[in-house]
Amino acid sequence: MEYRTLGRTGLKVSAIGLGTMVHAGHFGPMKDEESLDAIDAALDLGVNFIDTSDAYGAGYSETLLGKALKGKRGKVVLATKGGNVMAGPNRGKRIFAVDYIGRVMEESLRRLQTDYIDLYQLHNPDVEVIRNGEVWELLERRKKEGKIRHYGVSINKMDEGVAAVRDGRSDTIQIEYNLLDQEPAREVFPMAQEANVGVIVRVPLRRGLLTGKFTLEDQQRFQGEDVRARNFAGEIFSKELAKVERLRFLAKPGRSLAQAAIAFCIAQPAVSVVIPGARDGQQMRDNAGAAGVRLPAEDLRRVEELWRNGFRP
Ligand SMILES: NC(=O)c1ccc[n+]([C@@H]2O[C@H](COP(=O)([O-])OP(=O)(O)OC[C@H]3O[C@@H](n4cnc5c(N)ncnc54)[C@H](OP(=O)(O)O)[C@@H]3O)[C@@H](O)[C@H]2O)c1
Repeated sequence: MEYRTLGRTGLKVSAIGLGTMVHAGHFGPMKDEESLDAIDAALDLGVNFIDTSDAYGAGYSETLLGKALKGKRGKVVLATKGGNVMAGPNRGKRIFAVDYIGRVMEESLRRLQTDYIDLYQLHNPDVEVIRNGEVWELLERRKKEGKIRHYGVSINKMDEGVAAVRDGRSDTIQIEYNLLDQEPAREVFPMAQEANVGVIVRVPLRRGLLTGKFTLEDQQRFQGEDVRARNFAGEIFSKELAKVERLRFLAKPGRSLAQAAIAFCIAQPAVSVVIPGARDGQQMRDNAGAAGVRLPAEDLRRVEELWRNGFRP
């Protein structure tokens, strides 16, 4: 495994981490044995950065991680999030009120069975919260108390990334970046690198699409709570599949398309850690194998060309 410094936090993190959204059933039904297998495989492979949120399965992913990491807490850099409500009467809302975040942070600590969270992230705040939210003062207080070690944001839009870096209070930003969404490389990554803000790349496999394993028929099984139910359907899905066909040249004997997709993300010097979701130990092993993959300059050039002339919306 390769280790990098997570910006100004100084934390040494594995270049390949583990995203645990899948373990809460957001990608179709899951068995706990599979999730635990993925977490155990991660630790065996030297993966030390694990990302979760209180929103994943309304705390289910945190509870599972708490159990899985019993006696192994010191081996991982644990990142969670709060503020994005994905269940109950407030479903769909973003709440960054001081009393709310104060309460859900305590709940996260309890579920994770730990005294401290290495990285607490505001889960999808908008520019207004990033610039003017009172929640930052709470985060600083909790840091002084030792309940969290560092704090940052997970964001959706480029202007939020720019605002977070300019604002200066986030130690890290978590953002989607992959072969089909290369926009962060234009402005957000260089700014973050310059400011020594740690960059965590999420959704590197475009929710499994960039493994090359899907066909149009797969849309039938993306149902209900599966996050792919909305976008992996109809014309949008067939266009995405066509783009993946144009990326198949990246897979070679001994290098899966998933590994190439993850290697593409870690080729960015601003990126500290990439957090592909892994359903089980097998996916975790495949993903961790990307740590040894360096895409040749010619491949990176072709990928950028595809982005500029076709993939970019
Ligand atoms: N707003 C936010 O803060 C936010 C939003 C999204 C994600 N995240 C974080 O980012 C993490 C990663 O994003 P993601 O899980 O949405 O997307 P992703 O990492 O792009 O895709 C993960 C999915 O791809 C499939 N997969 C993974 N490795 C594979 C392999 N080697 N071979 C074949 N299939 C494989 C699995 O689904 P199947 O087996 O079902 O195909 C897995 O659930 C999340 O777990 C979460 O921690 C944060």
